[in-house]
Amino acid sequence: MVSPALVSSLLLASCLVRAQSSTAAPRASSTAAAASQFTLPASVDEGATLLPNVYDPTAPDAQVHCPGYTASNVKTSTSGVTAHLTLAGTACNVYGTDVQDLDLLVEYQTNARLHVSIRPSHVTSQNESWYLLSTDYVPAPNQENGQTTTSDLTFSWENTSESGFGFNVTRNGTGEVLFSTTGTKLVFENQFIELVTHQEEKYNLYGLGEVIHGLRLGNNLTRTIYAADVGDPIDYNLYGSHPFYLQTKYFEVGDHNRTTLVTEPLDTSNATSNYTSLSHGVYLRNAHGMEVLLRATNVTWRTLGGSLDLYFFSGPTQPDVTQQYLNVIGEPALQNYWGFGFHQCRWGYQNWSVTEDVVNNYERFAIPLEVIWNDIDYMNHYRDFDNDPIRFNYSTGSAFLKRLHDRGQHYIPIIDSAIYVPNPANASDAYQTFNDGNDTNSFLLNPDGSLYIGDVWPGLTSFPDWSTAAAHTWWKNQLVAWHQKLPVDGAWIDMSEVSSFCVGSCGSGNISLNPVHPPFKLPGEPGNVIYDYPEGFNLTNATEAASAASASQSQAEATVTASSTTASGLTSSSTSYLRTTPTPGQRNVNHPPYVLNNVQGDLAVHAVSPNATHHNGIQEYDVHNLFGHQILQATYAALVAAIPGKRPFLIGRSTFVGSGTVAGHWGGDNMSKFYYMYFSIPQALSFSLFGIPMFGVDTCGFNGNSDEELCNRWMQLSAFFPFYRNHNTLSANSQEAYVWSSVIDATKTAMNVRFQLLPYLYTLFYNAHTKGDTVMRALAWEFPNDPTLADADRQFFLGPSILVTPVLTQGATAVNGVFPGLVEGTAVYYDWYNKTPVSVPSTKNTTIAAPLGHIPVYIRGGVVLATQQMALTTRAARNTSWSLIVAPGVDGRASGSLYLDDGESLAPNATKLVTFSAAMGSLNVTVSGNYTGQDLPLANLTILGVPQPPPSNIVRINGQTVANSTYNTASKTLFISGLEHVLGGKVWSANWTLS
Ligand code: GLC
Repeated sequence: MVSPALVSSLLLASCLVRAQSSTAAPRASSTAAAASQFTLPASVDEGATLLPNVYDPTAPDAQVHCPGYTASNVKTSTSGVTAHLTLAGTACNVYGTDVQDLDLLVEYQTNARLHVSIRPSHVTSQNESWYLLSTDYVPAPNQENGQTTTSDLTFSWENTSESGFGFNVTRNGTGEVLFSTTGTKLVFENQFIELVTHQEEKYNLYGLGEVIHGLRLGNNLTRTIYAADVGDPIDYNLYGSHPFYLQTKYFEVGDHNRTTLVTEPLDTSNATSNYTSLSHGVYLRNAHGMEVLLRATNVTWRTLGGSLDLYFFSGPTQPDVTQQYLNVIGEPALQNYWGFGFHQCRWGYQNWSVTEDVVNNYERFAIPLEVIWNDIDYMNHYRDFDNDPIRFNYSTGSAFLKRLHDRGQHYIPIIDSAIYVPNPANASDAYQTFNDGNDTNSFLLNPDGSLYIGDVWPGLTSFPDWSTAAAHTWWKNQLVAWHQKLPVDGAWIDMSEVSSFCVGSCGSGNISLNPVHPPFKLPGEPGNVIYDYPEGFNLTNATEAASAASASQSQAEATVTASSTTASGLTSSSTSYLRTTPTPGQRNVNHPPYVLNNVQGDLAVHAVSPNATHHNGIQEYDVHNLFGHQILQATYAALVAAIPGKRPFLIGRSTFVGSGTVAGHWGGDNMSKFYYMYFSIPQALSFSLFGIPMFGVDTCGFNGNSDEELCNRWMQLSAFFPFYRNHNTLSANSQEAYVWSSVIDATKTAMNVRFQLLPYLYTLFYNAHTKGDTVMRALAWEFPNDPTLADADRQFFLGPSILVTPVLTQGATAVNGVFPGLVEGTAVYYDWYNKTPVSVPSTKNTTIAAPLGHIPVYIRGGVVLATQQMALTTRAARNTSWSLIVAPGVDGRASGSLYLDDGESLAPNATKLVTFSAAMGSLNVTVSGNYTGQDLPLANLTILGVPQPPPSNIVRINGQTVANSTYNTASKTLFISGLEHVLGGKVWSANWTLS
């Protein structure tokens, strides 16, 4: 029976078309409750029918209606500017109530960082109001060392009679205007802020995530930033919120006036040596739902609240901008060494023995496996911190985890964001985790102070209120207590946008219905069987083909029905949209007058509603984008408590500015399609900019079935992403690396390279953690003088020295790629596999043979790489002997570094830093620090790009003859082996020189 309250909320729910929802799981197969369970009707997740402002031809233009502001009482000093801004005319109240008086504060915070804050004058303290984002949530740096007298940037301002106050941020030295609002009106209302900035045509912006899009954002799109649980649609708002962009401007060399701006990615016929570029960054420290409108010659920021809290970073290169930005938001966490091993996951490992079989299969096929994961299958009725007593009981699980740990493997479970609210009418439904949270006031409320109850996997649920210290303590206690029953090695945080499958507090008054089934069919349930395959997949099985045909028929029908109501953002004469108008002095948080182009439409669809209320009085509307970040912070602290002294391994779905300090991120619910494999690269590179380098996607694809060819390519590509995990949706065909024989081989081939590069990858993360260096890099960032690379995102560099050129299309046996700098003579490359120098092609774009099972990987000259060998786990790999690869650059020199520690301590008591420099037939190795755990033998050393056999093949270390070298004419390599016993068999124990 449906309760009256639920019926009324269902009736209230009006019709709305929403994008594909997050996929969902069937109820735990073994539960008796499942049979009698109430299924929420689809209408519970329908909100008002809204027309996004950017598609609404009748929407008022704030620039036309609003008066702007006038600056007065302007005070300028060497450290910055302060001023008062007053509304320059009659309030327009176009999407809220205009704020009459604003304060402007400009600070030259460091040489490279300028801060511009515009906020209501009546708000004085940081934590007083939703206008100001609390520094408890997101850091806001101050002026460095009190005052800065020199800056790369200059702030200037003007008052004009037409548009009032406007400002410019200019790069000193070049005079380039980086950010300009002059001639546009500032709009500052209680539910709407608008800042219009000028841009040159065809500007290059990157960032503004999270979005599935090419790396370069283009000049005609709207980037909505509002955390959403949705299966990776292209060009819509997604899980994470990163209001930051990098802008790169290309100029002709010698054009000191910077007048000849090269804006478009050029065609390859243009010689690159004639160009140069300058990059800068812009960060809007604001957690509200927002939109950035990228248009031909303007970039417009619109937020649903908060204040203008802008940070400008002068660069002038991408690495500089990233370092400057991360210096503000926090450098990425140092990862565990084992986190860089291979991870296998899927939704649908139904019990411990199925899970352990997967581990055993990896071993049987001798494919390295570091971490096995469980999805929500392990939970008791999908309840956090509670294992299914039969299928995933603690004693069997602990014994399994012991076996894993003994072999150097690890275990990561999913933890969802919502907490089941037990049915009070059913004593056997009791759930202590909920009781503990409820007793400590750890959950979000309704505006009337009652518990906010939405719906996620377990049924009707409550949601942690991260604004209270109590919630953090409660969460930590839950995790610690659970960890005592099952010693998991980290956590995978999901549904943290925060997702809820119904609009509003649909569970209020309906708790006796619990547990309820989500309002949609879960993969594999009747009516939701997966028939989708990658591009080019040929069904050979007749039955499968027949069902696929009938599925596509029913899908076609569904599309017809849907299209009659779908407006795809455009007006349909028959649709009536909800439009709200501002009420003076009040806010309408559920339906703000300005309608974002939210992928789910109504802000309350598939998410906790904006009017959910925190214990400190803050409404969810004001902090929605922060939930995912805060649960990561809470879980990081909980893991430190549960596993003292160890670096937490933590991956989250929803992220905010600064999440990289505690966690990594996976790309969410992608599809088993070649084009999603491509999108993984720009998504990863964007997360490099956002300071979350521990990034990877669901390898082989999540939604839909994968196939041998796609999985072969993808297992190879992801081997070069920091976070390397295969994950699959419920009921889709299996896609572990051992399922297809060619995938086994391809995986091992790529893993072999990855394992050799683990010390390099780990060192990259050390440099990211300590200095804000970038791990996965776009070609344009490494070759800033080449405008042809402005939108290159089908290849990437791992660190500065490894170039990866994957096949991203179905059926290909070759791939087109570039070797930046090779034609121009500024770079040399060596094929990873045969170590041969890449010969200079006649054109920049080169066709590279790439039969299935081969991923083209190149070493960029100029580096010394310290490598180890592949093993079934990273623990074993860390104990293999070392090799060195010396890859000289165009100048014949090579250098590199290696960071070593125990790979897991939060504060390692011993570390070691090794630096290499090679030139003119000798290699110098300098060692500092006292970590000795990896002082193992040096097996061999390979010098690449040696044009002819050296006059002597005698190899000396510290002056003593130790071995002979062998020259290979075909590959032009000099190979030195038999070094195991030199240096006492401990290669990093002291400085040495080889000649
Ligand atoms: C969400 C996650 C996905 C997970 C599923 C079931 O869709 O994004 O990775 O498998 O929930 O927990």
